[in-house]
Order: sequence, then C-alpha cells, then structure tokens
Amino acid sequence: MNMTAVQTIDVVLGQRSYPVWIGPGLLDDAARWRRVLRGRHVLVLSNTTVAPLYLERLSQGLQGLTWSSFLLDDGEAHKSFANVGRALEALGQLGATRDACVIALGGGVVGDLAGFTAACWMRGIDFIQIPTTLLAMVDSSVGGKTGVNLPTGKNLVGAFHQPRAVVADIVTLETLPEREYRAGLAEVIKGAAIGDEAFFNWLEQQVEALIAREPTVLIEAIARKVRYKAGVVSRDETEQGERALLNLGHTFGHALETAGGYTRLLHGEGVAIGMVLAARLSERLGMSDATHTARLQHLLQRLGLPMVIPTAMDPQQLLALMRLDKKNSAGQLRLILWRGVGHAEIVSGVDESDVLAVLQSPS
Ligand code: NAD
Ligand code: GLY
Repeated sequence: MNMTAVQTIDVVLGQRSYPVWIGPGLLDDAARWRRVLRGRHVLVLSNTTVAPLYLERLSQGLQGLTWSSFLLDDGEAHKSFANVGRALEALGQLGATRDACVIALGGGVVGDLAGFTAACWMRGIDFIQIPTTLLAMVDSSVGGKTGVNLPTGKNLVGAFHQPRAVVADIVTLETLPEREYRAGLAEVIKGAAIGDEAFFNWLEQQVEALIAREPTVLIEAIARKVRYKAGVVSRDETEQGERALLNLGHTFGHALETAGGYTRLLHGEGVAIGMVLAARLSERLGMSDATHTARLQHLLQRLGLPMVIPTAMDPQQLLALMRLDKKNSAGQLRLILWRGVGHAEIVSGVDESDVLAVLQSPS
C-alpha cells in the first residue's frame, strides 16, 4: 500500500473527547497511541484469528508495560456474558488497577466485548479501540456502545463507555476476507443514506476504487463516515434522539441476524437487507418513492451486498424478533424510516401489518 496521510477526527464529548486516527501503519506507531495510556497495566483483548496476524506487532509497542492477552474464539456467538466474566478474571490475574487499560484488537465482536469489560472492571477503566475490520473502523469502534448478546437477542446487555482513542490502521484490512469487507461497506453506505447526500453521490462514483481497496479512497470513505457518526454522537451520546437514526436498517437487520442464528448473515449484510426493507416500508407508508429505493439497491448491488430476505426465514418470526428492539417503547414499534438519500427519520407507532406486508413480499 502507498503511504498516505493519517486523518484525525475528534469525537467531542468534553473531558471524554477522543481522537479517531485513520491511516496506514498506525499499529506500529506506538509513540502516537501510548500517549493515551495512563497506567502500567494493559490487557489486550483479541481473537484467535486476529491475534496471530497482528498481536506480535502490537506487542512491540507495549514494551516496558505489564500486559497480557485474552483471546476469544472467533464469531458472534462468543460475544457473550460468559466471556466477559473470563476477561474480567484475566484483568484480575494481571493485577489491573483503576489506571489499567484494555486494548481491543479486532472487529466489532472483540471491540464490543472489550469495551463492556472495561466498563465493568472497577466500575470503569480506559480502553482503546484498534479496529481491524472495515465495519469496526467506520461504526462499532466509534461512539462508545459496548455490550454482549443474550440467547434472546443481540446487544441486549451493555453500557455506554467511550474509548480513549480509536486507532484504525487501514493496512490491517489487507487480510480481511472479501465478504467481511463488503459487509463493512454496508455501514459506510448507511451513514451516507441517513444524513449525507453528497457522500452518497461520492460513493456512487468510487465503486471500483472501493472494491479495489484503494488506500486514499478507503481512508476518505472511512473518514467521511466517522466524521458523520462523530457529529451525531457528540450531539446525542446516549441516544435520546438523533443517534437512533444511525440504526437505519437495524431493526430489520438484527431480526434477520438472530433468525439466522448469527451465522447465516454478517451484521453488515443484515443492515444492507434491512435498509432496503426500511426503504420499501417507507414507500408503502407514502414517505418515499420507488426511485429512492432503486438508487439504494443499485449501489448495494454494485458493491456485492445482499438485498433480499434469505429463503426459509419466517416473516412472523422476524416480526416477533423486531418487537424486542431496544428502540421500541410502550409496546409499539419505533423504526428508522427513510425519505430518500440523506434523509432518515424516527417513526413511532408503525403498524405491524405494514411491517409484515413488507416482510412477506419477495422484493
Ligand atoms: P467480527 O468482529 O466478527 O469480525 C469479522 C471477521 O473478521 C471475524 O472472523 C474476525 O476474526 C475477522 N477479522 C477481523 N479483522 C480481521 C483482519 N484484519 N484480517 C482477517 N480477519 C479479520 O465482525 P464485525 O463485522 O467487525 O463486527 C460485528 C459486530 O459489531 C457485531 O457484534 C455487531 O453487533 C457489532 N456492532 C457494534 C456497533 C457499536 O456501535 N458498538 C455498531 C455496529 C456493529
Ligand atoms: N451503530 C449505532 C450506534 O452506534 O449508535
């Protein structure tokens, strides 16, 4: 990869503000991220796929500190309470004090669990996100949502706990499997679809460069999505209002992921299908029209993302799963709907019969 300048985006939250660094070679740039560490104890949380690729390089930057690693098995199923308990025990074994830091090295599964572990240890210690998937770089590492899954649903247990820094080394994306990379692109598109039409236009022009993982275009795409999300998080950290917009496609998407046992669809794939379903429901409710949906579908299709519900998923079961969504209140569905590119909206009291009709129609 060519060397390209590092971009810095600040998530502005008063004394808890933090930088998101995006660029090549940041994993080896310990002089930059070690400034964030306050104490001597570090627990690196990673998984059995990412650690063999990148832990050795990260460890070069940890020399002189008291550190250890805790590795999850790979997969969404391991974002569990049981593993939080084990990670907390690893902090205990390390002798971690309140100035200790957890470093998350991996994708969103590792980042969410590491952040929640840090939020729990001694009622909250520092953590640094080192995201190694595109999805984690553009979404899960930024904004402080941490947590784990329960058998009844995704991300039902968690805490808002902001990292001290996000270190997005784009060179790590060179080893990311194609399907995972494309799933990350869904989260890039999502940001543009919700609130940034100029960004969406730009993405439409950059499809080939994005597929080729061209570094300058990749950095620009990550930075634009992170800048958008950082702005939303700065205005509404704990999702009292605007932040809910970031969940475009998620109520549908989480239901699809859960129905698929967390193995059939990747998170970004669920979001891609979910965005199309949200667009179609918006059409049905008269908020939008077919040209907007077609534009979204065209971009998703060019980037190789799925757009229809996998066969054998039962619409009634999906609806039941959607009722468990965290955004719902007073027994009513609260969904993020869409007026077209750059214009998402929170809508309460959506009639379940309309949702079911969209889930039942093939495309
Ligand atoms: P993931 O963490 O499972 O990573 C995807 C796969 O890529 C895994 O097999 C992983 O081992 C592998 N991998 C990671 N980096 C790699 C690399 N550089 N090279 C090779 N392989 C690599 O999945 P994800 O898509 O990163 O994250 C999904 C998770 O993020 C879900 O649990 C979702 O709920 C969560 N999420 C959280 C937020 C938030 O705001 N906290 C937002 C979106 C998603
Ligand atoms: N991924 C949605 C959020 O961070 O709010």
